[in-house]
Amino acid sequence: MKGLSLIGLRKTFEKGTPNAKLALDDVSLEVAPGDFITVLGSNGAGKSTLFNAILGKFRLDRGRIILDGEDITRLPDHRRALNIGCLYQDPLRGTAPNMTIEENLALAYTRKASRSFFAVNRKDSAYFRELLRRLDLGLEDRMKTKMGLLSGGQRQAASLLMATIAEPKLLLLDEHTAALDPATAEKVLALTRRIIAERSITCLMITHNMQCALELGSRTIVMDSGRIVLDVAGQERAKLTVPQLLERFRENAGRDLATDRMLLG
Ligand SMILES: Nc1ncnc2c1ncn2[C@@H]1O[C@H](COP(=O)(O)OP(=O)(O)OP(=O)(O)O)[C@@H](O)[C@H]1O
Ligand SMILES: [Mg+2]
Repeated sequence: MKGLSLIGLRKTFEKGTPNAKLALDDVSLEVAPGDFITVLGSNGAGKSTLFNAILGKFRLDRGRIILDGEDITRLPDHRRALNIGCLYQDPLRGTAPNMTIEENLALAYTRKASRSFFAVNRKDSAYFRELLRRLDLGLEDRMKTKMGLLSGGQRQAASLLMATIAEPKLLLLDEHTAALDPATAEKVLALTRRIIAERSITCLMITHNMQCALELGSRTIVMDSGRIVLDVAGQERAKLTVPQLLERFRENAGRDLATDRMLLG
């Protein structure tokens, strides 16, 4: 089927050693095309590991990953990267700091089409300028500026463009606003919402901000000890408050969800 299917994913780090850690414990998830799912969970719950499994950063103990009808379980990570965009907390990851904004966008744009990077023409350039203009950060006049000179928020916004410009089948956002000041984080979140809606991109977004998790997207999952312990969508989710979410987590996981970073999200 289209969308993303995760079937019985299991991952043990340092298997067979005293430090063995079961980081994914039979995770199964069906993500419909165009779904925007927010992912919550305490530190160490397995959220980033789930993303890394989808990205092919390691071999699973077992399980299968189907993206858009294709079994990608054994596909090397660089091949998956053509169809999966991702953004991390650290604005330094994912962009080439010594290349200009325009060059970075061109690289992301042409990579998938396997066109030559130098084939970027005036039409592409005008398209990039328009995309940047719509970010409303004044970056359209700084296309020749090196990426490394941008502020964290500007770079995350540009990275978001890069991650989505080649129409990925899936977008993975791993706390991509956590390192930004609250106002900039708001702005980048608003952009995220807009770009995802405009392009109908299937997206999973990790956040520690529970309010934000319930407001953005169409479905929320909560992870704990490598498992999905809560999965809410539709009417049920629309009515859910943060205290109720915490209560539901306590019922399912048998303990409290760490909320220390909740306000930092
Ligand atoms: N490469 C690795 N080698 C060994 N253990 C790992 C590795 N990556 C993750 N782990 C372990 O797997 C568990 C889940 O880690 P993960 O990074 O997925 O948590 P997370 O939910 O993303 O937490 P956070 O909110 O802190 O980012 C942790 O116990 C972590 O120490
Ligand atoms: Mg993480």
